[in-house]
Amino acid sequence: MGQTHGHHVLVTGGAGYIGSHSAVALHEAGHHPILLDNLSNSTPDAVEGVRELCGRDIPFHTLDCSDFDGLKSLFQHQVDVGQPIQGVLHFAAFKAVGESVAKPALYAANNVGGLGVLLQVMAEFGVEAMVFSSSCTVYGEPNKVPVDEGAPMQHAESPYGWTKQACERVLTDHASSREGAKIALLRYFNPVGAHPSGVIGELPLGVPNNLVPFLTQTVAGIRPALTVFGDDYDTPDGTCIRDYLHVMDLAEAHVAALNWCLSQSKDKVRAFNLGTGTGASVLEVIHSFERATGLSVPHVIGPRRPGDVVAIWADPKRAHNELGWKASRTLDDAMTDAWNWQQRLGQPDNNAH
Ligand code: NAD
Ligand code: UD1
Repeated sequence: MGQTHGHHVLVTGGAGYIGSHSAVALHEAGHHPILLDNLSNSTPDAVEGVRELCGRDIPFHTLDCSDFDGLKSLFQHQVDVGQPIQGVLHFAAFKAVGESVAKPALYAANNVGGLGVLLQVMAEFGVEAMVFSSSCTVYGEPNKVPVDEGAPMQHAESPYGWTKQACERVLTDHASSREGAKIALLRYFNPVGAHPSGVIGELPLGVPNNLVPFLTQTVAGIRPALTVFGDDYDTPDGTCIRDYLHVMDLAEAHVAALNWCLSQSKDKVRAFNLGTGTGASVLEVIHSFERATGLSVPHVIGPRRPGDVVAIWADPKRAHNELGWKASRTLDDAMTDAWNWQQRLGQPDNNAH
């Protein structure tokens, strides 16, 4: 990734899972992250973890992305101290698929509304570079795999998925309306793992929905067994296939995307798949964990989970060719780091928003 000239970069959702790891990667690349989070799905511990890993006092603001005046004050403050914000990594959003079905208006307001407010403030301050957290969920069940960025978007399976499609549309329209806009739409596949230090990682609140936190909590004895959601799919071992990428690879992709935004001149807005290019089944993830840690994963086969895509993995060539980014860590690395983090985390906090 190389050293850069050190830009001041706002990281919304900076106390969250991917935002905190990306803040560390930004710092390591010579940039200056400024973290913002309303702590609706995170704690200040993550900010302390980022500071520990960076070895300096990274600024943190407890602020909501829908707070127009609060955002304006923050952008103005940065101008006043001679460190204007030059780009934004926008992670802040709600992300629980099931909750979005129960509370679609909350998801629209927070995810789409928050982006709208943030873009208005950015425009007022002439900030054009944004790296946006999108998701492979925009593809739905793909017609062919690996899926590339030209694949059609499918009808969103959930209100959460719709917010990602809607945000991509808002950003595309915003880019059309502004001469200097530079926006990267990063379509993440399945981020897993943690910083190898174990100082930061994913903080699942309540019972985890995602595979890897559920798996590590099971091995830690917090859950009796992992349920594999269906083994009768049309895949080699009958279980669903995903493209799991290490969160530090994902974090480094944000640095590459930011650099692209700040340097490229052709496209104003561009989508990039972020994945490894290889699919792994649920059983392969279990085997990877067992291989990496030497521990066995108690698991049972259960019914299919409604709404699950059968098999999806990325064609990540565009990110390689245009961002110079490629995932380098293995699934086993991610399992080692996820387990390391789980051991540090201990018992879960059961407060969900
Ligand atoms: P996370 O919940 O750990 O982090 C999001 C952070 O944003 C949290 O700390 C939360 O407190 C904060 N936040 C939410 N709404 C806010 C608001 N209005 N103002 C300020 N802060 C707010 O989630 P994550 O896994 O780090 O995900 C980051 C982004 O990546 C999200 O946009 C998510 O939709 C997207 N994404 C995540 C995954 C995944 O598997 N984790 C996959 C695809 C896309
Ligand atoms: C889910 C969301 C997706 C979101 C992503 C990241 C759905 C339908 N999709 O993706 O929109 O972007 O999380 O937050 O919810 N599995 C088990 N047992 C478990 C948990 C999961 O077998 O206890 C399986 C699932 O069936 C799936 C795989 O593990 O095949 C991965 O599941 P998960 O981690 O929830 O991610 P996605 O379903 O890919």
